[in-house]
Amino acid sequence: MANESSDVMARIEREKTTYLEELKDYLRIPSISTDPAYGSEVLRCAGFALERMREAGLTAQLLETAGYPLVYGEWLGAPGQPTLLFYGHYDVQPVDPVELWRHDPFEPTEEGDELVARGATDDKGQSFAQLKGVAATLAERGALPVNVKFILEGEEESGGESIDAFVRADAGARLSCDAVVVSDSSMFAPGQPSLLYGLKGLQYVEIHVTGPNRDLHSGTFGGAVANPANALAHIISRLRDAESGRILVPGFYDDVLPLADWEREDWARLPHDDAAYMKELGVTELSGEAGYSTLERAWARPTCDVNGIWGGYQGHGAKTVLPATAGAKVSMRLVPHQKPADVARRFREYVASVAPAGVSVEVKSVHGAPPVLVEIDGELAAAAMAAQEDVWGKAPVKVREGGSIPVVGTFSQVLGVPILLVGFGLPDDRLHSPNEKFNISHFYNGIRTVVRLLERAARG
Ligand code: BES
Ligand code: MN
Ligand code: MN
Repeated sequence: MANESSDVMARIEREKTTYLEELKDYLRIPSISTDPAYGSEVLRCAGFALERMREAGLTAQLLETAGYPLVYGEWLGAPGQPTLLFYGHYDVQPVDPVELWRHDPFEPTEEGDELVARGATDDKGQSFAQLKGVAATLAERGALPVNVKFILEGEEESGGESIDAFVRADAGARLSCDAVVVSDSSMFAPGQPSLLYGLKGLQYVEIHVTGPNRDLHSGTFGGAVANPANALAHIISRLRDAESGRILVPGFYDDVLPLADWEREDWARLPHDDAAYMKELGVTELSGEAGYSTLERAWARPTCDVNGIWGGYQGHGAKTVLPATAGAKVSMRLVPHQKPADVARRFREYVASVAPAGVSVEVKSVHGAPPVLVEIDGELAAAAMAAQEDVWGKAPVKVREGGSIPVVGTFSQVLGVPILLVGFGLPDDRLHSPNEKFNISHFYNGIRTVVRLLERAARG
């Protein structure tokens, strides 16, 4: 590792357990943004992040929004040098099914190199690594080689609306910068860092099916009255062609940017192994759109999946009942140049056209995010790649991802600067699943990567 950071690296080595204990305190706050029952915890979490920014030596404040506050901090003591805007989120996903966790999701537990807790990798651990990289440098040197700004949002996991409105209204005033640095994704594989140049977008909808005015005896009324659960199953079965895996919503693929030849060639050369992938996930077959590899399906082809489904009796044993209502939550993952609102409209029209008689069907749009492709040419992207190589000993691969970070498209559009998607997680971090984890060594290497990035981003 380049020795011009050796003083800061030595400090990190001395203070690493303190950093880890602070991260654990951060993880103890159940900041689940999608569930209003956790509102006060989400706010408490914003306060915690604010304090950590101040301790790091940033001038920091909460920025109120229509929803949860943004936590903003800055250190602008390097005139003439570039400004990096670090982005992360302090909210987390719900924990259910909670019985599948080995420990309390909000009592971070070390299992060897793994720190297990909700938010460990997504995104508290990763964004705390960003902050600690800056904090360690400031503590050691009293100054940074470049200017930094931090912005943390508390609604990423529920659509990111407030930060979107803030960035648009701000129009690059407070958030003006030379590049945005996002650490909210994973490396391609252990030991193999990556720089992302694409994220999928999202259109999330709910299908509500309503039938008779009450639950009915399934013997007395079955066969004579349309069953909302059957109707829902019928609709869902029409979303995708079983054979080809193609989505059947008319016009769904109209705006899809095809994979470039170079992408297919590059990705085919990446060390991905379907057999190992299946084994890790506990499945015996893979399934998806015909004619595309696993990485192509995951990174560059749109999808349509049920994320939750309900209706009828869910308890023990049998209850003979025709449910009065049934419903499903559906995510459509979008690729350039699909537009969330457009996809939502096509979906609504198609569902209405295939809905069976005898029930009423309503499609509600929950939230959407545009897909993004970002430029990774230029000096600051090169600095990020060099920083990754300094720490991991290997140059990053340039890849896309299937996840979405709603504000990234907005940053790219409004700020017009490079977005550096530098993740420290691993593909098996179980984000959004029970027993989410972040490798402790990756937490420390994330901190070191940020230290090197500050150094490498400086001019002259
Ligand atoms: N950090 C993820 C997105 C991600 C995951 C990017 C893996 C790259 C690799 C983010 O927190 C997330 O989960 N986003 C949501 C967005 C949605 C709720 C609007 C997603 O993708 O489901
Ligand atoms: Mn995230
Ligand atoms: Mn997430």
